[in-house]
Amino acid sequence: MSNHPPLNQQFTYIGQSPTIAVSDRMLALKAAGRTVISLTAGDPDFSTPNEIIAAGMRAMQSGLTHYGPSRGFPHLRKAIAAKLAAPYDPESEILVTHGGVHAYYTALQSILNPGDAVMIPDPSWGTHANMVRLLRGNVISVPALPEDGFLPKLQAWNSALTPQTRALVINYPANPTGAVPPRDYLKALLEFAAQHDLWVISDEVYENLYFAEKPVSAASFPEHRSHVILVNSLSKTYAMTGWRIGYLAAPEAVIENALKASQNSITCVAPFIQEAAAFALTDEAMQVQAAEMRAGYARRRDLVMRIYSEYPDSAVAVAPPQGAFYFFLDLRALKLTADEICEQLLDQAGIGLVPGTAFGPCGQGFVRMTIAASDEDVEKGFRAILDWAKMKVEGA
Ligand SMILES: Cc1ncc(COP(=O)(O)O)c(C=O)c1O
Repeated sequence: MSNHPPLNQQFTYIGQSPTIAVSDRMLALKAAGRTVISLTAGDPDFSTPNEIIAAGMRAMQSGLTHYGPSRGFPHLRKAIAAKLAAPYDPESEILVTHGGVHAYYTALQSILNPGDAVMIPDPSWGTHANMVRLLRGNVISVPALPEDGFLPKLQAWNSALTPQTRALVINYPANPTGAVPPRDYLKALLEFAAQHDLWVISDEVYENLYFAEKPVSAASFPEHRSHVILVNSLSKTYAMTGWRIGYLAAPEAVIENALKASQNSITCVAPFIQEAAAFALTDEAMQVQAAEMRAGYARRRDLVMRIYSEYPDSAVAVAPPQGAFYFFLDLRALKLTADEICEQLLDQAGIGLVPGTAFGPCGQGFVRMTIAASDEDVEKGFRAILDWAKMKVEGA
């Protein structure tokens, strides 16, 4: 019998972060003197541009160290509205949040009632499903298969629909697959959502990280804006993950609820961070730096593909990502689970990766490898993965 009063049962439906097991094991190996290359991070290896740091410091020194406006500074909301793919009213349709994760949380809080169902592609970033469960919603997984470029077929969305379904979540460029849908796909999906009166929550935090055409935002279809909710942040674009600043753009009724959710959970985003964000979004030189970071990831993506071409019969199948900063490597040919692959690669080759199943059952046999790491680590790490796979096949 427990010696404390009952806890929130919803937490039994979500596990600890699956990357923690890998991180703990990496730390233990490092402590034992082993060299380990970690290719697990979802965090840019670039530093936040100095000018953004200076803008934050100036704001602190000028006294912006107290509570700020809970919706966000008007000039910051204006700067956010100015960069969106469609007109949004900065007064009533934008909320500044504590990073993309908090934007997503306030979006779900605003629309979900207990027992509502939300459709989420499998594989997807784990928080998309976990947050729904924490808010007493039900997750319906929609397979996003490799042979379909990791985009769920429209038929799959349709088959997953139930009378309780209230929303679907999309995230392009996608974590972990790097998928970016063509405009027509997005248009058809938004039409489907409109037909069934569903919210579309579009998580666009990787919007600036693309390797071909610029991804189309879900906001680009004015006829659908009444059921679109945009989640975004400055984390990945400006290497500002630790600053914790993002935003929600949505119809006024959603923002009104989200504002209440935000006021009652974080009060406001720190005002000096809001000032730094306004600077990041409006200073032209910062857009140049963001583009340079994108070029850095593109260079590493090419590096990975070049190395891969040196291993013509590899058991690892590699599709170049169209966006974000991950490779979702297909090792299904080895007939091992994703956990086994990660454990063995760590123990035998000293490479830390995230098991594909951290993103849903469809990630079985896959691993996520980040390219948000130095060129040297990406090269050494990826070669080690290919050599290990070769050794497995030859030893089998
Ligand atoms: C798909 C996706 N959405 C949202 C986030 C959260 O980003 P933020 O730092 O803005 O909270 C992440 C972070 O890895 C992510 O991968």
